[in-house]
Amino acid sequence: MTSITQTDLSFDQQHIWHPYSSMISPPSMYPVVSAEGVRIKLEDGRELIDGMASWWSVIHGYNHPELNQAAHGQIDKMSHVMFGGITHQPAIELARQLVEMTPENLDKVFLADSGSVAVEVAIKMAIQYWHARRAHEGKANTKHKLLTIRNGYHGDTFGAMSVCDPVNGMHEIFTEVLPQHFFAPAPRTGFNEDWDESDCAELKRLFEAHHEEIAALILEPIVQGAGGMRFYSPEYLKTARQLCDEYDVLLIADEIATGFARSGALFACDHAGIAPDIMCLGKAITGGI
Ligand SMILES: Cc1ncc(COP(=O)(O)O)c(C=O)c1O
Repeated sequence: MTSITQTDLSFDQQHIWHPYSSMISPPSMYPVVSAEGVRIKLEDGRELIDGMASWWSVIHGYNHPELNQAAHGQIDKMSHVMFGGITHQPAIELARQLVEMTPENLDKVFLADSGSVAVEVAIKMAIQYWHARRAHEGKANTKHKLLTIRNGYHGDTFGAMSVCDPVNGMHEIFTEVLPQHFFAPAPRTGFNEDWDESDCAELKRLFEAHHEEIAALILEPIVQGAGGMRFYSPEYLKTARQLCDEYDVLLIADEIATGFARSGALFACDHAGIAPDIMCLGKAITGGI
């Protein structure tokens, strides 16, 4: 592979819009040549420690021999086939492991291509669930909205943006075009603090007042990640599960950042001993491959 030249870097600066950067006054980028373990090696020989593991995806480190071997082995057979009407052993094996690892009630897997798309799919599933159930019951379906908590982050696509915090969720300028959902205040009681029941008061009120309109409650269990790494009380999550059961609302746990032991337990929901109805996974599941 040829090395990156000054011409390449100025092309990058003029033509490539990097995530969360300005297009009109773009910052210069650090040219990377390789990565190993926690370290990213730059063109000039300097090394960076990637303390955020590539936005929390590379949990086993870069250039991991087992992951590399698996990727090479697979690409020599087929890089990809569509999933409509056909299946293959790697997909079946992945789904089998996910069904085994996740709580007992979660026994169906839908594969998506990113965390944001997983959230889109989860929202669609919840809405479709009520559509089908109400049709089966011969009733009109009124459950088209979502309930979520402030300070959350669920991705950058439109459905996901609509349940991110309207102010610090980075999507404020899109407010006018996003579907409007219900927002409860962010949990206040910290992970190890004494539980204060009043933390759930507004959440309860929203359930009471609007459950006929709400298809699902979506939240990041235990850790609000992009919103500031806020660890909140498992009691909040337990209460949220109870309210979902009491008011016939589905619970979507966005474990895209927390899944696969990122909060200490295998899944953040395990801290509260609860199981969601739909769980979104991402990031660590790829190991960055
Ligand atoms: C909790 C949560 N949900 C969803 C996403 C979106 O995932 P992706 O960047 O793969 O679209 C993120 C990304 O940071 C996340 O932290």
